[in-house]
Amino acid sequence: MSKAREAVREHAALVKEIRQHDRLYYELSQPSISDAEYDALFQRLKEIEAAHPELATPDSPTQRVGGRAAEGFAKSRHLRPMLSLDNAFEEADVIEFDRRIRRFLRLAEDEAIAYTAEPKIDGLSANLLYRRGELAGGATRGDGMVGEDVTQNMRTIADIPRRLQGKDVPELIEIRGEVYMSHAEFERLNAEQEAAGKPVYVNPRNAAAGSLRQLDPAVTAKRKLHFFAYGWGEASAVPAPTQWGMLDLLKRFGLPTNPLGRRVGGVAEAIAFYREIEAGRGRLGYDIDGIVYKVDRLDWQERLGFVSRNPRWAIAHKFRAEQAETELLGIDIQVGRTGALTPVARLKPVFVGGVSVSNATLHNEDEIHRKDIRVGDRVVIQRAGDVIPQVVRVLTDKRPRGAVPFVFPERCPACGSHAVREVNPRTGRADAVRRCTGGLVCPAQAVERLRHFVQRDAFDIEGLGEKQIQALYDWGVVMQPADLFTLAERNRRAHPPLQEREGWGEVSVANLLAAIEARREIGLDRFIHALGIRHVGQATARLLAQNYGSVRHWLASMKAAADHDGEAWSELNAIDGIGEVMAEAIVDFCIEPHNLRAIEALLAQIRVADFEKPATGASKVAGLTVVFTGTLETMTRDEAKARAQALGAKVAGSVSKKTDYVVAGADAGSKLAKAREAGVKVLSEREWLDLIGA
Ligand code: IVH
Repeated sequence: MSKAREAVREHAALVKEIRQHDRLYYELSQPSISDAEYDALFQRLKEIEAAHPELATPDSPTQRVGGRAAEGFAKSRHLRPMLSLDNAFEEADVIEFDRRIRRFLRLAEDEAIAYTAEPKIDGLSANLLYRRGELAGGATRGDGMVGEDVTQNMRTIADIPRRLQGKDVPELIEIRGEVYMSHAEFERLNAEQEAAGKPVYVNPRNAAAGSLRQLDPAVTAKRKLHFFAYGWGEASAVPAPTQWGMLDLLKRFGLPTNPLGRRVGGVAEAIAFYREIEAGRGRLGYDIDGIVYKVDRLDWQERLGFVSRNPRWAIAHKFRAEQAETELLGIDIQVGRTGALTPVARLKPVFVGGVSVSNATLHNEDEIHRKDIRVGDRVVIQRAGDVIPQVVRVLTDKRPRGAVPFVFPERCPACGSHAVREVNPRTGRADAVRRCTGGLVCPAQAVERLRHFVQRDAFDIEGLGEKQIQALYDWGVVMQPADLFTLAERNRRAHPPLQEREGWGEVSVANLLAAIEARREIGLDRFIHALGIRHVGQATARLLAQNYGSVRHWLASMKAAADHDGEAWSELNAIDGIGEVMAEAIVDFCIEPHNLRAIEALLAQIRVADFEKPATGASKVAGLTVVFTGTLETMTRDEAKARAQALGAKVAGSVSKKTDYVVAGADAGSKLAKAREAGVKVLSEREWLDLIGA
């Protein structure tokens, strides 16, 4: 599995676990783990997201501040729940939203619904409680019912008035809004963090959340946070009849409201507003991730009510992937755990989609050539929510003079082995992915290969799970398969020996060494399978073992097949069940000098038993090469092949000088003709069954 995929998997598991603990804590008030344990899970999640920012999607626990009241903050119950919004991604979803409301309110077809259209600020929502116009409390959203009491920190935000102005101020009102951080402040803060050797924040939203949740309000005060009010919760009076009227009132109370918000007469105007804001959002200086439409009339809002935790009267129309222009500083080649070489664009950092992006995927070498991406180019990149940033296109008119087409390496940057692209024999086209062939030695693939090597269908060494292999590899103790068989000897002289390292003990080490010792002799089919050659599973390994008999003969034959056209190559391809792509992969593997060295080192330690042929005399066809053709009557062709192989025969897919028998069923075609031509003995199905004594 690639590192990225592994991160995705671990991330998903952690999110699930944290959500379960949140539920236990909030809904059932029965936490099953300590705060410290919870924090450790949370910390790990943050680490993964720091390394893979694309995983920090808005629904990740890290993105919802107050997912759990942090130690040090008192809990604060909102007087009215803080709800969330349903999302629309397409304009059609917005039109449907408008229709739904019309149906619900039984409005006439031609009666337009007025909405407020407000930028959706990408920060964290907050609840401010004002009593008699005085700021009496401030809390994060938490789970929507209970948040963290961050009153002292809220007081440090300059945008938030301590006292509301005007004569209509209700006796009590909960103000709902978004705390956010500007791009400029985010950059400043991260530079400061970096200089102090502290972790940097992945995006302004995280930075705002982290800053608001500081235990020391003096720290929050130093981070310049901002606030926009967009609504209210509990209120002793709601003095205006519309959303727009209320926003205007909030502004007159002295609360900051977003200046871009607008009252629109209907859904068409709402969408026009969306397009206008989307086009200019890169210049705002803070992140917004969509437009929120809210039915303007409050009496209609009341009638519409809620579905589960979302109001029926509002929707968030999310923006598409944000694009930005930057410079391509270089192209790195990363090697995945399966040997795939992936080009990665190294970019001059640029702010896009809420994070600073300095890497983007280039997919594969064809993509680089198709888009003619050259180092030094100005490129347009895009990032959409949870998607890895991509290079969309090159601005060729801005290409610097002297920029040369990119030459994709034909050697693995991790181990120097040759890297190849498989050719599909049917289409003649090369696979998009170039792969390292140095499976046994490549550090990028080592752990994966060692794992395969010891698994049950291969060397079957017990006591070596992924964790142990990773540890042995990281300590430099086992770098390639042969090292397993010298481990006992080296461990005697090691400082510290394995049994003294964390996670290992006398018994587990003794058991492991015994398990390794027990595998110094192995059958050829298992041996071949253990090498982890691309496309070679257990069945293919068995075919190879059966066909070549001994490890030396097999290796020599593969070397001889490297010319791709002599007899050795034909013999390999003639094995029924081995196609050209497989044959190519096997030969590529066996001629790579790095692999050969690793195999020789291994062979110096172990004995590979020749493939066991059925005892002589047990079968008249043992060792003979048979080709089946045409339709058989008493069994399928696969069945016939399996039976022949069980009796020690080699089954070939095509007729050659080496063929001993061609078994011809009904409607046999060219193979039969070729057999006759070459003078190969042809048997009917009946004759074959007699021969094998069936
Ligand atoms: S109204 C009941 N308006 O988006 C409706 N929310 O997924 C409450 N947000 O938790 C939300 N800007 O943090 C509303 N102009 C805006 C907003 C906004 C940002 C956030 C808010 C909320 C989330 C909804």
